[in-house]
Amino acid sequence: MGSEREPIAVIGTGYVGLVTAAGFAELGSDVWCVDVDREKIERLRRGEIPIYEPGLEECVSRHRERLHFSTELSTALDHARLLLVAVGTPPTYSGDADLSAVHAVVDEMPASDRHALVMKSTVPVGTGAAIKRTLAGKGKDGFAYVSCPEFLKEGSALEDFLAPDRVVIGDDHNWAGDAVVELYEPLDAPLVRTDVASAEMVKLAANAFLATKISFINEIANVCEETGADVLEVARGMGLDHRIGTHFLRPGIGFGGSCFPKDVSALKQLAGNSGYHFQLLTAVIEVNELQKRRVVGKLQKHLGSLVGKQITLLGLAFKANTDDMREASSLVLSARLQADGATVRAYDPIAEHEARKLMTGVHFAGSALEALEGADACILVTEWPEFAELDWSQVRERMAGRLIVDGRNFVDADAVRAAGFIYEGIGR
Ligand SMILES: NC(=O)c1ccc[n+]([C@@H]2O[C@H](COP(=O)([O-])OP(=O)(O)OC[C@H]3O[C@@H](n4cnc5c(N)ncnc54)[C@H](O)[C@@H]3O)[C@@H](O)[C@H]2O)c1
Repeated sequence: MGSEREPIAVIGTGYVGLVTAAGFAELGSDVWCVDVDREKIERLRRGEIPIYEPGLEECVSRHRERLHFSTELSTALDHARLLLVAVGTPPTYSGDADLSAVHAVVDEMPASDRHALVMKSTVPVGTGAAIKRTLAGKGKDGFAYVSCPEFLKEGSALEDFLAPDRVVIGDDHNWAGDAVVELYEPLDAPLVRTDVASAEMVKLAANAFLATKISFINEIANVCEETGADVLEVARGMGLDHRIGTHFLRPGIGFGGSCFPKDVSALKQLAGNSGYHFQLLTAVIEVNELQKRRVVGKLQKHLGSLVGKQITLLGLAFKANTDDMREASSLVLSARLQADGATVRAYDPIAEHEARKLMTGVHFAGSALEALEGADACILVTEWPEFAELDWSQVRERMAGRLIVDGRNFVDADAVRAAGFIYEGIGR
């Protein structure tokens, strides 16, 4: 097997699964990766990485010997006791989490008292208990179950995996919980060992809290715009209070991505399904939706009607350093702008391929400067460093208009103004 560490299986090789597999390979485990996506598995076998994540390609290639990719579960079951589940749990139309991929995995499990499901996917509270009931109902009650939610962030996923703020393990004090503790031991992270339901709730509550912080500072930013305060100064002054902290106090054009929107909505629905109306989260979601659209108001303030105007979006994924387009603010923006009669040109250093699948009517360019050619206004949607380093006098020569809307407050406003532009940030 080539290592003394426990070999493991990872089911689902997306952002979380592949990073988890590479991370454990880095720690010395043999990892048996399984995915239903044949093409993805073939690419991984050829050494291609289907997603963009800094350091991942190098890590996977460093540990080629330890990483095994297959569409067959049986080989994984032969080699590993712990089956880490990292399949997607996207939102349904009702806002609840879609657990069909999780159930598909559970249904494939054989009767065994040697294996354990270790749930890395984000699932509603009660899912672990329901899975245990399902397995028991089929005479498979020897199968152990552990909740081990994942907290990594896209864009720094591997780094986060290797240096987590904490590891949360929920189980009923079975052998598998102990084995997962041992698996994570080399990371030397604070450990929260608890019951399954509490572990499930930690993940949902943590994401809901972070989303609340974002919507809160976005509302403060909006009030700053009305009152003449600068939200960056306000956030700095607030954040130095240890009870508040500086993280996630950056106003912008709303949160997106594959986690916050769906997890906030899933927690709200979970509460509602249990008879509790989670008012705060209802507001967090509404504030976020309005925030994505406020940028259009900033354009109208300076340009009047948007009919026939050319607007350039720089950055398309839900944030910089990822190609993940799920729930990206750019999707709402491009649709709103086109509905108002504008032409949309766009550029993203790595997300164009994914963006093309989801955006209609958008003209894609090969560089930021090319996208800005003839533009009446530019919206900086994500904070790629290359946008902060743009030569604004060169941009001024390319653009027809002179409006720059900085959706992330990250470029040098004075440099932009000095080049003859009108600069609009968020909350300043
Ligand atoms: N992406 C993140 O930043 C992040 C962070 C923390 C937690 N999570 C959670 O982790 C889970 C996975 O998220 P992701 O972003 O990695 O999803 P993803 O869509 O990138 O990957 C999911 C993978 O699972 C595969 N799959 C689906 N059904 C399968 C099955 N029956 N058997 C084997 N493979 C199957 C898919 O083909 C896909 O490759 C979700 O629950 C998500 O909420 C995600």
